[in-house]
Amino acid sequence: MFQPGLKNVTAVQTKLSNIDGDQGRLSYRGKEIQQLVEGYSFEEVAYFLLYEEFPDPITKEEFESKLKDYRSLPDYMERILLELPIDMEIMDVLRTLISSHHIKHGVEIEESALRLIAVIPTIISYQYRRMNHLPFLKPDKSLNHVENLIYMLNEETNHIHAKILETYLILTMEHGLNASTFAARVTISTESDLVSAITSAIGTMKGPLHGGAPSGVIELLEEIETKDNICEIIHKKLRNKERIMGFGHRVYKTIDPRAEALKYTISQLDQLPEWVELAFETELKTIEILKEVKPNQNLYTNVEYYAAAIMKALNINPMLFTAIFSSSRIVGWCAHAIEQMSNNTIFRPNAMYIGK
Ligand code: ACO
Repeated sequence: MFQPGLKNVTAVQTKLSNIDGDQGRLSYRGKEIQQLVEGYSFEEVAYFLLYEEFPDPITKEEFESKLKDYRSLPDYMERILLELPIDMEIMDVLRTLISSHHIKHGVEIEESALRLIAVIPTIISYQYRRMNHLPFLKPDKSLNHVENLIYMLNEETNHIHAKILETYLILTMEHGLNASTFAARVTISTESDLVSAITSAIGTMKGPLHGGAPSGVIELLEEIETKDNICEIIHKKLRNKERIMGFGHRVYKTIDPRAEALKYTISQLDQLPEWVELAFETELKTIEILKEVKPNQNLYTNVEYYAAAIMKALNINPMLFTAIFSSSRIVGWCAHAIEQMSNNTIFRPNAMYIGK
């Protein structure tokens, strides 16, 4: 049977996350994401996904301290970075530097995972600052993973901003067999290594139909500009057969629970920036229009829509969006790679020949 895009094909069994697309619910290892964002840190949820249980206080400290130790970019990687074109896209730099990460043969896969998770924020911030002609900021061990990420980008940390970003990062850590996770599993299934699997995943994440959507949302909102233009622009795009960025999802046929959680987080801010109001209004009107124009498709906002809102509220440059998404999804990629290797069958689907 031919299923384009492997739609509705179940290709793996997983204990990592359960996505209920009809009810709009998501849990990691049996725990609802709402509970995770309310009660746990980035580090704790990452540990939970990688090791199947929450760490006790001593293990937690050890885990956090390893993550801090592995943040620094080895000298040879810094030299490679400096050789790359200064205007090279951050995702391309991330793909290149991650693939250059020399993790010695024999290092356990969980340990390799920690090294990769820890170093991603450093690569992102170095290239971002380089592109903006700013000096590199060394990772700060007094800060947790998310605070350090903000600090290395903007030279200052803000507890509220770190909390909002942490919510986004936890919500996007893991999401079943999405395209980039599938790419990671396919690569590791050949008994290749974790660095190669994560390199494949980063290349896959980059595309606008996956991790590249938030920048598209910002462009959409900038084009709309004021509430009066919403209907006209959305109708025009649909007439031209364009996709409305930030809407629709392969699995969720109702509201994406991550978008709901982010919307709630952002509505807690003391002052809502004007364009967040525009995002709220655009969501309402676009859903109405999509119901009318594409009545059977159940198109609602996806996580990327509110990711864009969060990033904009935190003053994070759109050029960083997909890379920051990758800095959380890497936890899911690694957990899936570990799961794949615990019971491996190489991926090798068939192709239906339709040529001469
Ligand atoms: N705007 C307009 N129409 C849409 C949209 C959209 N955002 N999404 C789906 N549709 C329509 C398609 O045009 C198609 O309609 P048709 O049958 O009349 O031609 C129908 O819905 C089915 O489209 P598919 O691409 O088959 O649906 P699928 O479930 O595979 O699409 C996807 C999922 C790729 C996310 C899609 O909804 C999309 O392109 N959205 C915009 C990009 C986006 O926001 N991506 C981020 C996804 S979240 C993430 O990656 C973390």
